[in-house]
Amino acid sequence: MANPNTPWLMWAQLLILATTAAAKVPAVIVFGDSSVDAGNNNQLSTVLKSNFKPYGRDFFGGRSTGRFSNGRIPPDFISEAFGLRPFVPAYLDPMYSIKDFSTGVCFASAGTGYDNATSDVLSVIPLWKELEYYKDYQTKLKAYVGVRRAHTIIREALYLMSIGTNDFLENYYTIPGRQSRYTVDQYQDFLVGIAGNFIKELYFLGARKISLGGLPPMGCLPLERTTNFVSGNGNGCVEKYNIVALNFNGKLNGLVAKLNQELPGIRLVFSNPYNPFLQIVRKPSAYGFEVAAAACCATGMFEMGYMCDQYNPFTCTDASKYVFWDSFHPSEKTNHILADYLVKHVLNVFF
Ligand SMILES: *[C@@H]1O[C@H](CO)[C@@H](O)[C@H](O)[C@H]1NC(C)=O
Repeated sequence: MANPNTPWLMWAQLLILATTAAAKVPAVIVFGDSSVDAGNNNQLSTVLKSNFKPYGRDFFGGRSTGRFSNGRIPPDFISEAFGLRPFVPAYLDPMYSIKDFSTGVCFASAGTGYDNATSDVLSVIPLWKELEYYKDYQTKLKAYVGVRRAHTIIREALYLMSIGTNDFLENYYTIPGRQSRYTVDQYQDFLVGIAGNFIKELYFLGARKISLGGLPPMGCLPLERTTNFVSGNGNGCVEKYNIVALNFNGKLNGLVAKLNQELPGIRLVFSNPYNPFLQIVRKPSAYGFEVAAAACCATGMFEMGYMCDQYNPFTCTDASKYVFWDSFHPSEKTNHILADYLVKHVLNVFF
């Protein structure tokens, strides 16, 4: 007689096969700052955290994971679009292990930048250290899936980098050191040099499919608009910062072209969120938003992290009406729109 469990088991196996076959890359591997941090800062002694309510209230299970949003962030949506898990776990999160990381892992740290001096400001993980964690990950991956399979995963994985905003807003324009040493144009070149070296190191460690993220229109973040207002310029976007982002993105784009020439077999793309993001801020109603100038959390003007906690009475009830969740970070809905845009227009070369 047939085992009554057999049909169920067959279905389960088919489902697993189908899922594996449908995945377009074996893993998504993430480097960067709070735009992509899935909770690594929870394990650091820094003030820059978000592992408490109302952060994550629209995430699976309403969990405050340490993502700087009410829900998911772009790598989560990208991972899902590539047929993998609908979220990418943080490397330092004790809830996960190499078993989970073999299909996706995040080394990003909120508050960090290309410049070592940027990560020092709030004692977070410098970019070079993210790469050290990645080397450590490779060792664990080889032990877990075997050297051959690990090499395949390392070569075929999609690598996402999203970093740079803090170098300007948290460091260059806030702390005196860098401004006395570099003009903003020279500082951009300094950062692009670090970006290039980082990508080369990743390449020599075996990575081939890499997405370098551009800067958003950072003069339109609610915090910058508030600062603009306080200095008497009205609460529009800070044009100066948007121009810096545009120039920097132009240089990153040049770096991408250059490295594609230089490094055989690399497939480096430039994931630039600037234009779609600016369109959302300029015409929020076209995307179903009601508010773009202020954030959902707290007064929406300057709060993030601990100032945006569950005791703040002003937090909005429906974050999907807001382009921004806190004064520095997009709402889940904005993250979703931007991730979809990048998947459709840039990352689709890896399908
Ligand atoms: C940043 O710090 C690391 C570790 O000390 C060092 O290896 C690297 O050269 C530094 N980067 C720059 C651009 O100074």
